[in-house]
Amino acid sequence: MRANVITLAHQKGGTGKSTLAWNIAVELGLKHKEYGFKDFIFVDLDNQESVTMTNRLRMQYGQSPLYIKRFSDCEGNEFRDFVNEIDDDTLVIIDSGGYDADLNRLAIIASDFVVTPVSSDYMEIFGLQKFKNILAELSELKGEGEVVKVNVLLNKIDPKAKAFDDIEEFIKDTPYFVLMDTIIRFRSDFKHSIGYGFSVAELDRNSKATAEVKMLVEEIEKKAGLING
Ligand SMILES: Nc1ncnc2c1ncn2[C@@H]1O[C@H](COP(=O)(O)OP(=O)(O)O)[C@@H](O)[C@H]1O
Ligand SMILES: [Mg+2]
Repeated sequence: MRANVITLAHQKGGTGKSTLAWNIAVELGLKHKEYGFKDFIFVDLDNQESVTMTNRLRMQYGQSPLYIKRFSDCEGNEFRDFVNEIDDDTLVIIDSGGYDADLNRLAIIASDFVVTPVSSDYMEIFGLQKFKNILAELSELKGEGEVVKVNVLLNKIDPKAKAFDDIEEFIKDTPYFVLMDTIIRFRSDFKHSIGYGFSVAELDRNSKATAEVKMLVEEIEKKAGLING
């Protein structure tokens, strides 16, 4: 089945949700008609408003902005109504906040495909352990033995690092997590491009960051059923 609600989620802050949501959104947003969607909406739930502010820079630098809907922590009912009314012809990308909140939980439940960025140091396992408890609770809400699974994406990885045994072991043993094939390395282009409201590809089509985001988009296209393959 074709997914149409894709969310970046993790209750830990600073792992790259907004940065990657932005880059994925620019790429998928440009292609949404190719996938057969009529509309594309970006939803900003993060109280840091990172993507909303990036979109403003984007306009200042002369690019056409993304269509963004924002919901704040006190707009839970509005977000619930919005989620219930999403139709199958609309592609929705959601950036959620790096903390545990009803809004962020609702986004996970409402999603067909969740990406959870983490880096590879041992502390990240503690963060995932906490997130695991949230996913266990959400799975219980769904009932009928359903498990809420998220796709863990290694992000901000030292370009020289090759082995990620600890985190791989942890993910393998946890029913709520699936490790993505793509690895996004620590690349300064992610910071630079945001300063212009660009994606990394718009900043430099030939950079390593661009190649990695392209791999990520292709993996999402396949696993979320946006294209056949
Ligand atoms: N792959 C990456 N390489 C370099 N810096 C990154 C990368 N991903 C994210 N960052 C940086 O990490 C910081 C936190 O990212 P952000 O997207 O705001 O995280 P979150 O939304 O999860 O809180 C930002 O300064 C961002 O520029
Ligand atoms: Mg964020």
